[in-house]
Amino acid sequence: PASKIPLSRYDPDSFIDYQSLDTNINAIRDSLRRPLTYAEKVLYSHIDNADEADIRRGNSYVKLRPTRVALQDATGSMALIQFMSASIDTVAVPTSVHCDHQVVAKEGRDTDVATSNQVNGEVYDFLKSVCAKYSAGFWKPGAGIIHQTVLENYAYPGGLMIGTDSHTPNAGGLAMAAIGVGGADAVDVMAGLAWEIKAPKVIGVHLTGSLSRWASPKDVILKLAGELTVRGGTGSIIEYFGPGINSLSCTGMATICNMGAETGATTSIFPYTNQMGRYLDATGRSHIRRASESRANRLAADPGAEYDRVISIDLSSLEPHINGPLTPDLATPNSKFKELVGKNDWPRKLSAALIGSCTNSSFQDMSRAADLTRQALDAGLKPAVPLLLSPGSEQTRLTLDQAGVLETFDQAGATVLANACGPCCGSWERTDVKKGTPNSVVSSYNRNFTGRLDANPATSIFLTSPEMVLVKAFGGRIDFDPVTDSITAPDGKDFKFQPPISDILPENGFQNADYVYTPPPSERSDLTVDIDPASTRLQRLSPFPAWNNEDFVDMPILIKVVGKCTTDHITPSGKWFAWRGHLENISNNTLIGATNAANKSINSVKNVFTGTYNTVPETARHYKARNQDWVIVGDSNYGEGSSREHAALQPRYLNGKAVVAKSFARIHESNLKKQGMLPLTFSSEADYDRIEEDDRISLVDLKNLSSGRQVDMVVKKESGEKWRTKLHHTFNKEQIEYFKAGSALNLMGKMKRG
Ligand code: F3S
Repeated sequence: PASKIPLSRYDPDSFIDYQSLDTNINAIRDSLRRPLTYAEKVLYSHIDNADEADIRRGNSYVKLRPTRVALQDATGSMALIQFMSASIDTVAVPTSVHCDHQVVAKEGRDTDVATSNQVNGEVYDFLKSVCAKYSAGFWKPGAGIIHQTVLENYAYPGGLMIGTDSHTPNAGGLAMAAIGVGGADAVDVMAGLAWEIKAPKVIGVHLTGSLSRWASPKDVILKLAGELTVRGGTGSIIEYFGPGINSLSCTGMATICNMGAETGATTSIFPYTNQMGRYLDATGRSHIRRASESRANRLAADPGAEYDRVISIDLSSLEPHINGPLTPDLATPNSKFKELVGKNDWPRKLSAALIGSCTNSSFQDMSRAADLTRQALDAGLKPAVPLLLSPGSEQTRLTLDQAGVLETFDQAGATVLANACGPCCGSWERTDVKKGTPNSVVSSYNRNFTGRLDANPATSIFLTSPEMVLVKAFGGRIDFDPVTDSITAPDGKDFKFQPPISDILPENGFQNADYVYTPPPSERSDLTVDIDPASTRLQRLSPFPAWNNEDFVDMPILIKVVGKCTTDHITPSGKWFAWRGHLENISNNTLIGATNAANKSINSVKNVFTGTYNTVPETARHYKARNQDWVIVGDSNYGEGSSREHAALQPRYLNGKAVVAKSFARIHESNLKKQGMLPLTFSSEADYDRIEEDDRISLVDLKNLSSGRQVDMVVKKESGEKWRTKLHHTFNKEQIEYFKAGSALNLMGKMKRG
């Protein structure tokens, strides 16, 4: 039927169902009796059950049904390993996997991708075979950065997607609500479960005027990050509106949405504009452009919609900004920057200039940088520092190549890196600056925390637009200002850059680069996913055993934690990153950062069977080897921080059965439930103080575990004396079934198999 709009050319059997989205929206509008912001329209048109929805911004929780999942290679391995353990035949929503994080930037595109294929071949082969088996799309190393590939191929106005990367909001530039999540949430959606989120507040950003001279879309978000700070967007969606939005290109709006993540925002979004239509045409999706145009009023906020806060930006008077060092919210307008460099004694001399990342690697970004490069080359100049560029995707790279843009960079002696994250995620083998040497780097990326690019804490990283990065690369100084400064050319004349002029989109659309994509085969039943049992990086996950209908009796306490215990204390990152796809190996870091209340030491707990103090993982392994259940006692807000599901998977894998805490961070609590553990809280916090390291804990009458009914805990002292107390829990009926089945995934698999 005419209403069937194909989702993308890679998902021939999936369609955009605008009709049911509209039905949901009408129901929600009727029940809320108020106009809706565009962000609300997109979210709540994907609500799980519109009739029962309780929507209170910043308060209630809502269940949504995203229509797409995107995974990158670093976070995706464990998500897919978990998904495999559910014995489900196929992903429930269109899913894609993008190999972009592990290509190390060193010599340039071809060599770096080849090296990565050698070093990480095992992980790539695994990801490719899982995609084939479970019907997901696979984008190989060098195919592109996840968010650019999504924008070019998958994003569509009015859609809702989740991705296992914090800059997933990039797709907001194409009027989609795209939200970064942890792997466990992605697994839920791939397995067909609804996805829960706190109803976000909505911050409105009113744009007027249009950008001029040196200002670029990046400056909108650099300025806004300065106003909102790195926390100001937390719990909110940033929604842009006002006449200024019409002057922005689609990839420019994506840049703005991408870096909204630096304010802590849930996501950022623009309503549909004509520029988006042009982009859809150029990327071969005119059918989506036509459908969007015919419902443009639905792809915008209702008249009179109210925001929780409104910030106004006049694009006409917006200056280029330079943010940093150390934090993305230290925003300085160009006209004030030189003075600040002097005042703060920031290293003035640049050591490298980088253009790319998911934030700024579009055709327009690269073309504007090339226009400036051409100006300088014509004056006989060369960049004063190494200039590294990463195109966002193979489609963009190929198109830039055919348009002659890459040749300009070649002539300037720049290094064109792989279409991958590269230096942006620290995948940069930098040898020109010794660790500890103070130096300044300028990039068009989105993050600049200490050590982010080159693991050198003495590197000051400044964030700005591709245009400003380019001129500073030729100027050689972080404070080179194209508005006031000139460079002496070889002929002795003063050379001054003129603001760049370039096309927004390639004249004849983007080139086809389908060779970097592998679709899932139509016949998949005989396919297998091979994981070498001897692998140190990947390990198949066996389903956790179902609950045996018995109480947990006399469990030793692995650790009674005192003070802050974030997911980073439970499962640190750093060097452990390499084992994120290998549960057994990464479990060697379980709780090594947590403080033991008994001896105030980190990573030293008593083994109740041997009486000796060992590391937390060693002790847990000893208990597991004895088939001994155990429990963690937690302090306040246990498990705060990231949504990393390893923090729940690892204790579960090592035989943990429950965490009894004063309180939980919500996402970790939910992750524990999903993995079949019992997160429980003291009904009286004073009980926490009564627990000692030699105590044994029993959780009794679990047969009667039900929503709203407390759990009985019996604590047995070493002397044999016992005391009893009640514990709260927040399990609902469905979550109790997770516990009984052994995990949410076990339950899903059971239901699918009937
Ligand atoms: Fe990659 Fe950097 Fe973006 S790590 S996904 S390019 S923020």
